Amino acid sequence: FSLKNYNTFGIEAKAKQFVAVHNTTELRTILEQNKSKKKFVLGGGSNMLLTQDLDALVIHVDLKGKKIIKKNDDFVWVQSQAGENWHKFVLWTIDQNLGGLENMSLIPGNVGTTPVQNIGAYGTEIKDTFDSCEAMTIENLEMRTFTKAECHFDYRESVFKNEAKDQYIITSVVFKLTKRNHKINISYGDISGELSNNNITNPTLKEVSNAVIAIRQSKLPDPKELGNSGSFFKNPILLKSDFEKIHQQFPEMKYYEISETEVKVPAGWLIEQAGFKGKRFGDAGIHKNQALVLVNYGNATGQEILDLSKTIQNTIYKTFGIHIEAEVNVI
Ligand code: EPU
Repeated sequence: FSLKNYNTFGIEAKAKQFVAVHNTTELRTILEQNKSKKKFVLGGGSNMLLTQDLDALVIHVDLKGKKIIKKNDDFVWVQSQAGENWHKFVLWTIDQNLGGLENMSLIPGNVGTTPVQNIGAYGTEIKDTFDSCEAMTIENLEMRTFTKAECHFDYRESVFKNEAKDQYIITSVVFKLTKRNHKINISYGDISGELSNNNITNPTLKEVSNAVIAIRQSKLPDPKELGNSGSFFKNPILLKSDFEKIHQQFPEMKYYEISETEVKVPAGWLIEQAGFKGKRFGDAGIHKNQALVLVNYGNATGQEILDLSKTIQNTIYKTFGIHIEAEVNVI
């Protein structure tokens, strides 16, 4: 079974077996019937790089549905099933004037995988509005609720990438969104510029969402046109003491203080300075508008993309003494 249409990098890789599940009963049955088989869980396929065929039963989580489950004067709790498309879900919340997800408009992928890497953009992360999620335990097929505290969210990190890796299948997620007094956050980078270009001073949720969409479309390739998985690397976090030494050597280096002791450096800047931006090696390349994004021009293999990513990592290390880590799941 070809997975080319199930990963946004558009990599041609085959699954030994493939099944889509549409509700928790189907999911439980499939897990029960295939207890001893190797399994691989696939959501929107937007944060992975397939480097080989999968000798496994691929379970595509395709649970659909979204609803309001609770309200008070200030907040609304919305539950979405794991297989809902993230961006469509965000637009649905904005249409109902529910606030909190607008800065994360147009992120590819499905709702069920958003907690895994605590997706984020333009100054917000999933953890800011996440309430809880439900997951099926692969081992005993029992449902379990994860509270926000239990998810151990951090920058592009969660329990699902660490202690709980490969043990659960997230089936639905609950977000706590504002009903009024929305916390509009336009402090990140280009958002305020984009709004003032359109003469908007007091933006609505929809206007913030539209600004984010416009910025993303100007920088980030649409996976339907050019295979990619968004940022391939994480922005490295350095101890201030280490950073200061590097900064003396490279005074132009951009950085953001994230705590008293740590700074984050944009990997896109490092990759651009190292001369990779817009370069193409066969069908693997570095995007021309955002150096953090690796792209597949058509027929790149996962291995070719992985090799390119290693070349970039090595060059960045040699040039700046900074190690950049992949954000994408390399399979
Ligand atoms: N930069 C460069 N050259 C580049 C790209 C970026 O110099 O080619 C510099 C920019 O000038 C800017 C800084 O790097 O000063 C930050 O760039 P940008 O705002 O584009 O964001 P990013 O740090 O590269 C992160 C997320 C993105 C998210 C944006 C916006 C990570 C790994 N990536 O990228 O998330 O959309 O911020 O919030 O944290 C993703 O995770 O897949 C993703 C796309």
